[in-house]
Amino acid sequence: MTRLALVVVLVLITSIVLADKRATDSTPAEDLRLYRDFFSKRFPGIPLNEFGNGTYTIDSVSRDSWKAIEAFPPYTPMIEAGETLWNTVFANGNTYVNCFHEGPGQRKNFPYWDSKRKMVVTLPLAINECRTANGEKPLSYQKGAIANLLAYMSYASRGQKIDIEIPDKDALAAYNEGKSFYFARRGQLNFSCAHCHMESAGMHMRTDTLSPALGHATGWPVYRSKWGELGTLHRRFSGCNEQVRAKPFKAQSKEYRNLEYFLSHMSNGMEYDGPSARR
Ligand code: HEC
Repeated sequence: MTRLALVVVLVLITSIVLADKRATDSTPAEDLRLYRDFFSKRFPGIPLNEFGNGTYTIDSVSRDSWKAIEAFPPYTPMIEAGETLWNTVFANGNTYVNCFHEGPGQRKNFPYWDSKRKMVVTLPLAINECRTANGEKPLSYQKGAIANLLAYMSYASRGQKIDIEIPDKDALAAYNEGKSFYFARRGQLNFSCAHCHMESAGMHMRTDTLSPALGHATGWPVYRSKWGELGTLHRRFSGCNEQVRAKPFKAQSKEYRNLEYFLSHMSNGMEYDGPSARR
């Protein structure tokens, strides 16, 4: 069998297994194993943490210029702006530390399942809940001040291991919703996330090399040259929904929070390394 044929067969088998598993009760641990195996067979020899570099993990042509950008990263001023925000005292005299007792470096604690409220709590959501609990206005979720805060907190958390827990059956239901979202075809193009970022990972779409889904949740927020600014993970979700001409969901909607929960779980064992630079 040629190498290409082998890849095609492998992709088909894995997609069928994952699709079947979706219908049955595959555990998150089984999903994680399948997903990891899929990418390590597809892109052999790449260390796990490297996958956090998105398209540059596999596109050696653009990798060099990206490395040069990361050496003097465009997001440095945003980390500093985030630090200033972090230290700014709220009108009631409190600061973010009153909500985030461990300080800024606690990316590892998010997203998590809140068993009492039966919902996924992401870091941006927790930031806004902290603000409103202290009488401050919530920040808008896609870019700007919240992205700066996230950049500062992520930078302070670099190297923390992702270890998403799925503690009970309600959490499992949310995880499964995120998983179904990932594999559901949508939009006029009728593509699922998995079509582009699993089956077609490494292939070209216009001028892009499609990144592997593994590690997709590790490096946020992202400074994109195309945006000319920082954006959040949910901003990217919207963009990818729009690419297939599907109506995007709101940042921090239940749909996107559950999707983030699933994607983050699929990166368990990898390190948070945000913020990052992208084209
Ligand atoms: C039609 C193909 C297509 C579909 C479908 C698609 N994306 Fe993307 N996505 C892209 C392209 C192109 C990029 C930019 C190049 C890259 O990093 O892959 C991208 C980038 C991303 C990134 C940024 C990766 C990084 O390291 O910077 C994430 C995260 C992402 N997509 C998630 C998703 C999710 C979740 C879905 C499903 C809701 C989805 N995508 C659906 C084409 C697609």
